[in-house]
Amino acid sequence: MSRADWDDLLEAVRAAHANSPELQAFCGFPTDLQPQKVTPFHIPPAALMAAETGLFSDHHTALRDGFITCGPHAQWRETYKDTDIGQDFMDRFGCYNLIGQGGAFSSAQMWAWVVYMPPGLHYPWHHHPGEEIYLVLGGEATFMRAGDATEMLRAGQVSQHGPNQPHAMETHDHPVMALVVWRNGFDTPPVLTPKDYIQ
Ligand SMILES: [Fe+2]
Repeated sequence: MSRADWDDLLEAVRAAHANSPELQAFCGFPTDLQPQKVTPFHIPPAALMAAETGLFSDHHTALRDGFITCGPHAQWRETYKDTDIGQDFMDRFGCYNLIGQGGAFSSAQMWAWVVYMPPGLHYPWHHHPGEEIYLVLGGEATFMRAGDATEMLRAGQVSQHGPNQPHAMETHDHPVMALVVWRNGFDTPPVLTPKDYIQ
């Protein structure tokens, strides 16, 4: 692992952004990127993603593979550590930043990270003020958004979430990997959505 692997991964994100009309419309590619040192931090899903063979894809395969290559050297996130989300979710839901806090690059314009979910995992309703777009890189998952139709998405497809719009995800027989991009709201992490909020 060298700094060049992070640079390669950044270039794969740049290429995915350039080739996705939805990402192009969502935000420009950041012009203020600065490299920063990564302090690795591993959680159980890091090993699950490293061993994953089910992320079928015919779009953005270089980016999918780059996130796997850099995974052992990344600072994995525990976004829901102090919530009642449950140990199974903490053991299987994977996420690390490439651009943003703890990632290999900083930017005040756009944050970007990977989300990985193995088969048969439910990511409960959550929300955040940051505007967000998911680009699926491999596998498939059901995406749910309050006020919008539920969709099964595969590589190359996107799900966009407005400010504080509750959303949820579920994998079934296959895992999923997605690039997640925020264009604002970086200081406010996601929170689980109370049940009465979305009814
Ligand atoms: Fe989100």
